[in-house]
Amino acid sequence: GKENEGQVQSASPQWLIGIIDNLWQFENLTKLQLDNNIIEKIEALESLVHLVWLDLSFNNIEVIEGLDTLVKLQDLSLYNNRISKIEHMDTLQELQIFSIGKNNLTVVYLRRFKKLRTLNLTGNPFCEEEQYVLFVVAHIPDLVYLDFKRVSDTTRELAVSKYHYLIDPLEHEEAQALAQLEEKLAKQKELEYHKVAFVEYLNGSFLFDSLYAEDTEAAKLAYLPGVDDLLKDFVSVCENLFNYGLKEYEKREAEVSEFYEGLHEVLTANQQEGSKIILDFENQNKEVIFFILLLIHHATTYNIAESKRAEYNEDILQLSETLMTLEIQTADQLEVRFKHIPVKPPIQDARGSFFCCSFSLTVFYTMAQCRDLENRHHEKLLEISINTLEKSVKNELDEDLPDDVRELLVDKTTLVNMVNASHSVHLLKIDMRECDILTNAYRWQASVTGKVRGLHEIDRNRNRVKEIFQYIDNLQEQLDNSLQEQLDSIVLVEPPE
Ligand SMILES: *[C@@H]1O[C@H](CO)[C@@H](O)[C@H](O)[C@H]1NC(C)=O
Ligand SMILES: *[C@@H]1O[C@H](CO)[C@@H](O)[C@H](O)[C@H]1NC(C)=O
Ligand SMILES: *[C@@H]1O[C@H](CO)[C@@H](O)[C@H](O)[C@H]1NC(C)=O
Ligand SMILES: *[C@@H]1O[C@H](CO)[C@@H](O)[C@H](O)[C@H]1NC(C)=O
Ligand SMILES: *[C@@H]1O[C@H](CO)[C@@H](O)[C@H](O)[C@H]1NC(C)=O
Repeated sequence: GKENEGQVQSASPQWLIGIIDNLWQFENLTKLQLDNNIIEKIEALESLVHLVWLDLSFNNIEVIEGLDTLVKLQDLSLYNNRISKIEHMDTLQELQIFSIGKNNLTVVYLRRFKKLRTLNLTGNPFCEEEQYVLFVVAHIPDLVYLDFKRVSDTTRELAVSKYHYLIDPLEHEEAQALAQLEEKLAKQKELEYHKVAFVEYLNGSFLFDSLYAEDTEAAKLAYLPGVDDLLKDFVSVCENLFNYGLKEYEKREAEVSEFYEGLHEVLTANQQEGSKIILDFENQNKEVIFFILLLIHHATTYNIAESKRAEYNEDILQLSETLMTLEIQTADQLEVRFKHIPVKPPIQDARGSFFCCSFSLTVFYTMAQCRDLENRHHEKLLEISINTLEKSVKNELDEDLPDDVRELLVDKTTLVNMVNASHSVHLLKIDMRECDILTNAYRWQASVTGKVRGLHEIDRNRNRVKEIFQYIDNLQEQLDNSLQEQLDSIVLVEPPE
């Protein structure tokens, strides 16, 4: 067959295909015909992901399987097999033509194929039912051909009115599923937004919950009467940082686009100035070579020609210097702008003082507040649990203390060790969160500057310098070549002595 079509059809019975094999090498196949064989299992087709047309009719297939990867499939024939159930076809969303006649189907659920327009179902036990056509049309309202016949509008209307009691709940279910999916996507989008602002999971009690996540023992002690409810303060500190983070993000976005605009401005201004310098130079020196050539012709003006030529050479060098100076200025101006990219790691200057951007400062400050809350909580918890333990030893304990809390109050050393260990873990988790936020922020900053500096600026600067050198070389070559030509072609006439 053609390059992208495979006909693996057998003529004589001794060559009937029973097992699909060795097709992986035809990865680009779009059309495959395997009808009229004795295939019992759909297999080894996974790699043929470009298949659009697949004919497996007149085989002995019992189960629909192994088609999941063939997502481009538009036309599938499983006519005349032994299939009793439509399944494992959820990924075939491109399916338009499906031939599943003469099988062993009893139930049909084909609604999931939104593009299905042509369906071949005849010859299934299911089709013997009286209202079969109406039932199918009701379920697949966009069907155009059913069993070689065009579906008429009358049939469609009849189908809808007869089976709306079945279809309405289905539609309701599907709408619900869709709404759920949309909600999930919206949540994901929200999370992405929080992530680019570096404050994901700071809206609410997530950080607080994570402190106690693997710390069930100490969490029980929090039930002791008098242990403060840390949650509220902690959450409100986190939410402050969260709101600040979102605001900073908006600010940062604006700053970054301003930064890019600024870069663009500097570059445009400098390019324009460079072009103007060159244009002026060229205008001023339009006739200079011609003039020098004229002077060379006569021995009396030969010396003037020489000095004119030296002067012009000097001008060219001067131009080169001016252009290079301009380029250095440009690079300096850009460098100054890079320093204005918001969010940076703290830097220590020569005198040892730290400089810190306001974002990092706010993160430090907030996390210090969290640590502070945790420290105060820890002290209180330690104090109250030791008091409770002492009361317990003296048998003065409240009766309504839960058993699992009572079990923790055995001896002082164990208790103190436990509370201390839990405190250390909490502090560590707060540290880790702080580190995460800052790492993400600095990584973002590095990627912005790195991108501009690396991809843009270094290349830009290198290219510009090369351009200037080439231009200057050209000018000099032009001068030298014209003079050389001229000198080669004339014979100086010495004035008589
Ligand atoms: C499949 O197509 C791609 C892109 O056209 C080509 O690079 C590749 O070699 C093809 N594979 C085979 C087995 O022909
Ligand atoms: C058709 O399906 C029924 C069960 O629904 C099963 O008992 C019967 O063997 C199947 N027939 C063939 C030919 O696969
Ligand atoms: C339906 O099946 C018959 C019998 O194999 C075939 O001739 C016809 O082309 C099929 N139609 C479709 C749309 O697959
Ligand atoms: C916090 O934001 C996440 C997305 O980052 C969202 O899924 C969640 O519902 C929000 N929680 C609260 C309490 O607002
Ligand atoms: C527990 O922590 C306190 C301070 O928080 C400290 O003074 C004490 O030595 C620690 N005890 C143990 C057993 O680690």
